[in-house]
Amino acid sequence: MNAAVPASRELAGIAELAARATGDRLRTAFRSRPEVDLKRDIHDPVTEHDRAAEETIREVLAEHTPGSVVVGEEGGVGGGDGDLRWFVDPIDGTANFAVGLPFFCVSIGAALDGELVAGVVYDPVRDDMFTASLDGATCNGEPMRSRGAVRDETAVVATSYPSAYDLSLGREEALRRYGRMVDAFATVRRPGSAALTLAHVAAGWTDVAYDSSINAWDIAAGLLLVRQAGGTYVPLRGEPGGDDWEAPGYLACVDGFDLAGSVIAEVADYKGAGA
Ligand code: IPD
Ligand code: CA
Ligand code: CA
Repeated sequence: MNAAVPASRELAGIAELAARATGDRLRTAFRSRPEVDLKRDIHDPVTEHDRAAEETIREVLAEHTPGSVVVGEEGGVGGGDGDLRWFVDPIDGTANFAVGLPFFCVSIGAALDGELVAGVVYDPVRDDMFTASLDGATCNGEPMRSRGAVRDETAVVATSYPSAYDLSLGREEALRRYGRMVDAFATVRRPGSAALTLAHVAAGWTDVAYDSSINAWDIAAGLLLVRQAGGTYVPLRGEPGGDDWEAPGYLACVDGFDLAGSVIAEVADYKGAGA
């Protein structure tokens, strides 16, 4: 066994603890129409529950991994200066959570010495715990296998593309690309949580996912879930030699899906591995 596996399993267990610690609060607050504050713009909501859930997660992580660094969406970079880095999104899918749509999650990823080693996506509404370690990927303790459609015409693709930012870069072209997706895929969805969508790709409940502007806390856990379940995660437009979870875009799909022959490759300007 790879010597790093036990440590990675342990970190995944700690991430599970931290994610679950937010469960009661998030379930109680869900469908209470919490007040919404805006961060960057009208498309970037936050509630008191995002901030409180992140606090809870930070406490659990600090207790079990003192000295670790925590990079959280709401609180920024905190903790110590060790080799262990946590990426925390206390609620991924805040717009859904705030309005009462049951598609949001807690996402916690861990990188040790520059390698992603553990990730947890927790769906508090369904009480589904998706866990990735160097040992594999599970949903509620059951191994996951990322399998599904092999071609666009039978596939469900989930994306937030085009975002308002994508439209600002070239409206006509972005809408043309979106139209290509709608025509080519069996089904196009905008579920609103990158992390939970990636967990679903890992489980084989969604075939393809694409996002053009995300942060490490959105996708660190989901990236590992997809890869450990046998699916494909391609970082897009990252710095040369940079970490995959720092890249601002991604394409993900179930094992066996024809990515090179898919319209999504064209939409994402993906020329294929090694290009
Ligand atoms: C957002 C969701 C959404 C993605 C955005 C993220 P938030 O996260 O993951 O699916 O397209 O880029 O910002 O704001 O709900 O934590
Ligand atoms: Ca997010
Ligand atoms: Ca968030």
